[in-house]
Amino acid sequence: MNRRCLGLARLLLFNGTMLDTQRTVADLVLDHPECANVLHRHRIDYCCRGDMSIAAASQKAGVEMPALLAELERTIADRTAVDVEDARALPTDGLIAHIVSRHHTYLRKALPFLQALAGKVSRVHGNHEPRLREIDLLVNELADTLIPHLDAEEQTLFPSLVAGDVDRDLVAGELTAMQAEHLAVADLLDRIRARTESIGVPSWACNSYRTLFSELAQLESDIHRHVHLENHVLLPRFIRPPEPERKNGGSKSKRGDQ
Ligand SMILES: [Fe+2]
Ligand SMILES: [Fe+2]
Repeated sequence: MNRRCLGLARLLLFNGTMLDTQRTVADLVLDHPECANVLHRHRIDYCCRGDMSIAAASQKAGVEMPALLAELERTIADRTAVDVEDARALPTDGLIAHIVSRHHTYLRKALPFLQALAGKVSRVHGNHEPRLREIDLLVNELADTLIPHLDAEEQTLFPSLVAGDVDRDLVAGELTAMQAEHLAVADLLDRIRARTESIGVPSWACNSYRTLFSELAQLESDIHRHVHLENHVLLPRFIRPPEPERKNGGSKSKRGDQ
């Protein structure tokens, strides 16, 4: 195919509504990692609640579907092969090394920093803005949940996944527990976001206040990418994901039913 035909094919592919709106948002991000930023911007959870269809997720987030599809398709069309990596192509040991070096290392630095910053902002401005105290408590709860989670993955779960003779029953139990912990983390992030969005950044906010809110947004974005890799790339290599919900009377399967 010559360059002109390639260009035409690309136009035909991305200028129409070619995305299947019944695909899950997790599958969308697996095929098109660059879409993660778009979903994040619209508060669509593609990691812990990634088994939702694009249509259902846009409705839940209150985003007009045609506008969302257009944005996703534009993003896909604009991507370059250089800055998008397909984690599915990594072997399990490489995938785990990537998760630990990129996401665990980030969290081990970011969480203590955010705990100190949230404490400081709460002490200085908490009387004026009591929700800053709630954010402080939630950031500490998030750290208390995540640090043992990272430790367990690095010390127990991940080594057992790359062991020569994987005990699949044992690993399945550990991965199910991992998913449950991810949901607890997602719930804490939702609660933090609800408070930061309800306050916003006031015009009088100091640099610490502004940094806290921007770093919390960055933390949430990074955790979404991290959990997406664990839930949708790593975990399916060891246990079968639940059947997606069928629209017209098919069997329904949810994680909690397993
Ligand atoms: Fe992890
Ligand atoms: Fe995890």
